[in-house]
Amino acid sequence: MNMEKYLQERKAMVDKALHRLIPPEDAYPQMIHESIRYSIFAGGKRLRPILTLAAGELYNQDLSRYLPAACALEMIHCYSLIHDDLPAMDDDDYRRGKLTNHKVYGEAMAVLAGDALLTLAFEVLSRDSLNDSGAIIKVMQEIAAASGTAGMIGGQVVDLLSEGNPVSADTLNYIHSRKTGALIRASVRVGGILGGAGEEELKVLTRYGQCLGLAFQIIDDILDIEGEESKLGKKTGMDIQKRKATYPGIHGIEPAREKVKELYHASLSSLEIFEARGEALKILAGFLVNRDY
Ligand code: IPE
Ligand code: IPE
Ligand code: MG
Ligand code: MG
Ligand code: MG
Repeated sequence: MNMEKYLQERKAMVDKALHRLIPPEDAYPQMIHESIRYSIFAGGKRLRPILTLAAGELYNQDLSRYLPAACALEMIHCYSLIHDDLPAMDDDDYRRGKLTNHKVYGEAMAVLAGDALLTLAFEVLSRDSLNDSGAIIKVMQEIAAASGTAGMIGGQVVDLLSEGNPVSADTLNYIHSRKTGALIRASVRVGGILGGAGEEELKVLTRYGQCLGLAFQIIDDILDIEGEESKLGKKTGMDIQKRKATYPGIHGIEPAREKVKELYHASLSSLEIFEARGEALKILAGFLVNRDY
């Protein structure tokens, strides 16, 4: 399997579906739709929706079944980035290679664009007629829990409260597995739930998503130290400047790299039950841990 080609094809599929699901720029009131589309189509790896498709594909090759939920996850991720960049949070000027949403549209519109994306995500899920309603309710619960105070929001809260303070390894683990890990884990599980995964298989997918979710944020922390701004599309060095709780900050950069490797192997360890069908998930894990953007 050619990874570049695979990722490109999946990204194009997700982007096409997002274009269909998000109101056009000329819909009144235009400014909010412009602002939403500015951030959603600024780029982005589309990793979360691609994980949903890859997990779903283990069960059914008809990817249209998974696209609404995959797009909903990308909408929530994009909302979290718009809000994360606000002056009240990380106060960042660049994202996905462009000025951040609030720099272009103002803080009020950026807050509303995030709110609108979160709301639209659940509207899209509730309208999903390709799947049976029992599965959709489970998926909505899954995504809501991963995004709420026990998930992404909880992680963001502790991330902000920890700025400039000494943080224990357990607290760091809480922050990383919630602010970033929760949505990545949910992205994988949603593919499994919609595909009809059995209990054992869902456990394997959960473990895979959990390991990769944590690894993903550790890599984000490493890239903030040694990544290239032009590739990342965002400013580096911000974690040290803001005295953020990061994995390299607490454990050191080498142990951070070691932890990523360990999580990578743990993520793969149980995929064997899928045999050859698990190939895409393996390749995605490899891409994710070796990424430089
Ligand atoms: C960045 O996420 C923020 C984190 C949760 C670490 P991504 O690295 O997936 O950002 P995009 O979607 O590709 O822009
Ligand atoms: C972002 O973590 C997590 C969420 C947006 C939920 P970071 O604050 O480290 O992400 P970047 O580095 O700004 O992309
Ligand atoms: Mg942040
Ligand atoms: Mg940030
Ligand atoms: Mg970061």
